[in-house]
Amino acid sequence: MSDPREKLAQKRAETLLGGGLKRIDAQHAKGKLTARERIDLLLDEASFQEIGNMVVHRSHDFGMDQQLLLGDGVVTGYGKIHGRLVYVFSQDFTVFGGSLSETHAEKICKIMDLALENGAPLIGLNDSGGARIQEGVVSLGGYADIFYRNTRSSGVIPQISAIMGPCAGGAVYSPALTDFIFMVEKTSYMFVTGPNVVKTVTNEEVSAEDLGGASVHGSKSGVAHFTVPNEVMCLNQIRDLMQYVPQNCEEKGPKNTYLIQNEIREKLKDIIPANPNQPYDIKDVIHEIVDTDSFMEVHKDFAENMVVGFAFLAGRSIGIVANQPSFLAGVLDVRSSQKGARFVRFCDSFNIPLLVLEDVPGFLPGTDQEWNAIITNGAKLLYAFCEATVPRITVITRKAYGGAYDVMNSKHIGADLNFAWPSAEIAVMGAKGAAEIIFKKEIDAAENRDEAWKDKEKQYSDIFANPYRAAERGFVDEVIFPEETREKLIRAFDMLKNKVAVNPRKKHGNMPL
Ligand code: HXC
Repeated sequence: MSDPREKLAQKRAETLLGGGLKRIDAQHAKGKLTARERIDLLLDEASFQEIGNMVVHRSHDFGMDQQLLLGDGVVTGYGKIHGRLVYVFSQDFTVFGGSLSETHAEKICKIMDLALENGAPLIGLNDSGGARIQEGVVSLGGYADIFYRNTRSSGVIPQISAIMGPCAGGAVYSPALTDFIFMVEKTSYMFVTGPNVVKTVTNEEVSAEDLGGASVHGSKSGVAHFTVPNEVMCLNQIRDLMQYVPQNCEEKGPKNTYLIQNEIREKLKDIIPANPNQPYDIKDVIHEIVDTDSFMEVHKDFAENMVVGFAFLAGRSIGIVANQPSFLAGVLDVRSSQKGARFVRFCDSFNIPLLVLEDVPGFLPGTDQEWNAIITNGAKLLYAFCEATVPRITVITRKAYGGAYDVMNSKHIGADLNFAWPSAEIAVMGAKGAAEIIFKKEIDAAENRDEAWKDKEKQYSDIFANPYRAAERGFVDEVIFPEETREKLIRAFDMLKNKVAVNPRKKHGNMPL
C-alpha cells in the first residue's frame, strides 16, 4: 500500500489541475483565467480555504463513470477580502465546461448555507456551459436548489456574481437573484436563449455578444451593474465594492475613523450655471462632497439620467442617488426609476445611509413611457424610498418639480433632513408651463401675448423658483451655501448614526413589481 501522506499529496496536486493542462492552456488562450487563479486574485493573499476539493459526480450514463475529475467543475470555499470573511465559488470551465451536475450544485449549496448561517457575503464566479447535459433533470434540480438559497439569502447577506464566460439558459437566474452582477467585456455573455434558438424562433440573426455581451447588459438591459475590460480588473473591482458593504443585514455599513477638518469645498460655489436650463455634471458635485476618489459608480452606462453609487463620507459608507442634469435633463423615466429603486433597496437592506442629490424637472412624458408603465416603475422608486429606514438626507441643488419632488426622498416620505441650495426651485411645475395654465385668460387677452406670458412666468418664478417657500413650511430644513454641503452632511449623518426606525409588522410589502 502506498504511503498515505504521499497519496494525499498526489490527490491534492490532482485537484489543482482541474480538467488538465491542455484545457488550462485553452482557457488561457481565450484570455481567461482558471477558476483557482481567479480566487487567488479575488481573496487576500493565501487566505483561501477550500471545501470539497475531492468531490466527484455520480453519473454513470454516457461513459461518465470513466471521467471522474476531482472537484467536479467548481472550486468552493472561504477566505478573506480586506481581512473580512467571504464565501466563494468559482466554476472551472476546464472540467466539463464548468457545467453544473448534481454534486457541483451540492458544493455551491453547501457554501451558500455556510454563508447564510455565518452572516458573510457570498461571491460567485460564473463560467459554465450550463446544466450538465449528461445528467438531465438532476442538474436542473441543482439549479433550483441554488435559486432557492439565493432568494432566502437576499437581504440577509450581500451576494455578488461575476460572469467570466458563458452563462446561458436558466443558469442566468442565479446571478439575477443576487445583488450585483459584474461582466467581463468580450469574454462573457448572458442570455436565456442563445443565438441559434433566437434564429429558429424569430428568424433574427444576432451574435452572442450582441445578444447578451457585457456592453448590452451594461447599457441596454441593465442586467449587469458593472462591466469591466478584463478579469483582473473585474476581481479588483469586486474587492473595491466589498469595502462599502457590511457583512450582513445585522451590521452597520463600514465606518473608518475620521477627524472633522476644514470641509468647505469652494468649487461647489460656481457649479450651478446661471441659466437654469443649462446642464452641469452631477458627478462633479458628488466628487466634491465625498472623500477623495471614493465614489464607486453602479450601473454607470445604464439610465444615465440617474447616477447611483457608493462613496465614503468622512470614512462612512453611504449610498448616493442623484439626478443627472447633463443627461436628458435628469428627468425620471422607466429605466432610471428601476435603477434608483434597486439601489435604494440594496442600501436599505444593508444599513447603508442614503444621500439624495436632487435636480429633477419631473417625469418624462410620452406614449413610450406610459406604455412601458412609468406609473408602476415610478412607483417602485417611490416605494423603495418610503420603506427605507436607514438615515436619509436630500440636498436639492436646483429643480424639484412636480411628483418627482415627492418621490426623490422628500421629507414627506421619510427623509430625515432636507437641505437646499439657494439655486433650488421647488414647485408643481416649471414657471413657463405654470404661467400658461393659471394665467391663460390674461395671456390670451393681452395685446402682446409673448410679453404677457413672460411677465406671468416671471411672477410665478419669483414666488416659487427658490427654496424659501419650502423652508417656511419646514419641508426644507436648511438652505445652505453649496460650499458648506460636505460639512453639513458629515455632521448630519453623524447625528443620525444611531437612528432606529421600524416599518409596521407585516409578512412583506407588495411592492409594485
Ligand atoms: C456537459 C459540457 C457542457 C454541458 C460544455 N461542455 N457544456 N459538458 N454539459 N452543458 C463540455 C464540452 O463537451 C467540452 O468538453 C468542454 O465542456 C468545453 O466545451 P466546448 O464546446 O469545447 O467549448 P466552447 O467552444 O468554448 O463552447 C462553450 C459553450 C458550448 C458555448 C458553453 O460548450 C455549449 O454550447 N455548451 C452547451 C450549452 C448548453 O446548451 N447548456 C445547457 C443549457 S440549458 P471537452 O471534453 O471536449 O473538453 C441549461 C438549463 C438550466 O443550462 C436550467 C436551469 C433552470
